[in-house]
Amino acid sequence: MSALHTRLDASSQEFAGRRAAMLGSLAELETEHAKALAGGGEKYVERHRERGKLPARERVELLLDPDTPFLELSPLAGWGSDYTVGGSLVAGIGVVAGVECLVTANDPTVRGGASNPWTLRKALRANEIAYENRLPCISLVESGGADLPSQKEVFIPGGALFRDITRLSEAGIPTVAVVFGNSTAGGAYIPGMSDHVIMVKERSKVFLGGPPLVKEATGEDADEEELGGAEMHATTSGLADYLALDEEDALRTARRVIARLNWRKADEGARAGAVVRAPLYPEEELLGVVPEDLKVPFDPREVFARLVDASEFDEFKPRYGPSLVTGWAKLHGYPLGILANAQGVLFSEEAQKAAQFIQLANQRDVPLLFLHNTTGYMVGTEYEQGGIVKHGSMMINAVSNSKVPHLSVLVGASYGAGHYGMCGRAYNPRFLFAWPSAKSAVMGPQQLAGVLSRVMRQSAAAKGRPFDEEADAGLRAMVEEQVESESLPMFLSGRLYDDGVIDPRDTRTVLGLCLSAIHTAPVQGARGGFGIFRM
Ligand code: COA
Repeated sequence: MSALHTRLDASSQEFAGRRAAMLGSLAELETEHAKALAGGGEKYVERHRERGKLPARERVELLLDPDTPFLELSPLAGWGSDYTVGGSLVAGIGVVAGVECLVTANDPTVRGGASNPWTLRKALRANEIAYENRLPCISLVESGGADLPSQKEVFIPGGALFRDITRLSEAGIPTVAVVFGNSTAGGAYIPGMSDHVIMVKERSKVFLGGPPLVKEATGEDADEEELGGAEMHATTSGLADYLALDEEDALRTARRVIARLNWRKADEGARAGAVVRAPLYPEEELLGVVPEDLKVPFDPREVFARLVDASEFDEFKPRYGPSLVTGWAKLHGYPLGILANAQGVLFSEEAQKAAQFIQLANQRDVPLLFLHNTTGYMVGTEYEQGGIVKHGSMMINAVSNSKVPHLSVLVGASYGAGHYGMCGRAYNPRFLFAWPSAKSAVMGPQQLAGVLSRVMRQSAAAKGRPFDEEADAGLRAMVEEQVESESLPMFLSGRLYDDGVIDPRDTRTVLGLCLSAIHTAPVQGARGGFGIFRM
């Protein structure tokens, strides 16, 4: 009864144009993803293999159950910086012995697997995801420790990595370290803090200080194996619980450790008995929904129709505040409340509707999905007098204090406070992904350049100085270009403002994996517990 109908004409020129633009962006994205896959480059990967070692992604692959998906997180970490794309770390969610785990793996082919500022941000984000969703953590360790030239940015905040491991353990979330090579100095605390430790014979090196440092500090001539080799730790120090014969044996052992965790998902019942039905319309058509020019509105229902089970959607308050679509659906059998921008601008009605809808989802323990395509809250005298500030605040209050898990997907624009109200990064959605068509900034590049120009014009007038029109035009163009490039998904993903840029066709699968991970922890909404709603 509540199945959505589509108005999308996949044979139209409009659709073909949108699809071609999206495919173009996806090709660019693939080029950048390929950089992360290449790690430190051919020379270093070859050297690594010649040493009889497996690359990070092959370690992950052998760890996971065959033919199960791996939801890779932040593959573009460090994009646009001086560091290799990917942050010398692989992170993601995968299934090990039937248990969804958060897996990280150092990439030793990138500067010895040393941790640069982006590695650190990515690892901390991975820990946060594990903590919030109660996912057992497996670290595949082989790292030269802190990236020495950037030590000022990694040393002090980097302490949180070791703190997190023991806090996960304290929360009853299992932590497993598999040490394939170097894990020295601060890195020694990764196995040191983990619940379960596996080391590889003649490969693992775990010590506070290596032989040169020991010689310098105490004058002792130490042997590497005796100082921190796997055999020593498995037989003498007791730091290693298992001595693996080689890398494959270590990964097999890790799988056995996970199999013996007696691990249970807290909210297994969330989709109990659900018959998962595919959407009525092909996911392939998601390529042709979003216009290249984000000023052109599109109907988000065309997205839901290709995302949710059986394309069934029960809209809430369809006639009130129509610029924000709200309603209930299921995705891979999991109940979901959806909020999606329809016309870009959020008015007072939309903000109040959102606040009410978020409260309902909390009362019913239903996770929320935010689909962003907003230019922000409406400005102007009429709207200020109508209370747009307090109504926008109401929505932001509801989002901030909501306790059900949130998922955010930036499909189009995500500007200004609209980004906040729609649960942007700072509002801690459990996961946040972007489509290649997304753009996010304090406002659109043209508007920002225009506002800046006006402010400067006013300032010149106030000081009685002439205004240089030519210089202003040049500055406007420059600012516009800069803000445009800083609004793009690859740039934002490089800074870890999202968990990845995804192919629109994968959205249902990605959200399904997220919802499954989310239900590893109990899903419990807020009963009251919001700040004061200004009426
Ligand atoms: N910071 C910055 N760069 C590092 C690094 C670090 N901690 N560790 C390694 N690198 C760089 C190397 O300079 C080298 O760069 P290059 O190829 O441009 O010359 C590249 O990474 C590969 O290192 P290399 O030593 O050739 O690789 P390896 O596999 O033989 O050895 C290590 C890897 C990690 C064992 C070794 O590099 C090492 O001991 N690094 C220093 C470890 C350390 O003391 N870290 C500080 C702890 S907090």
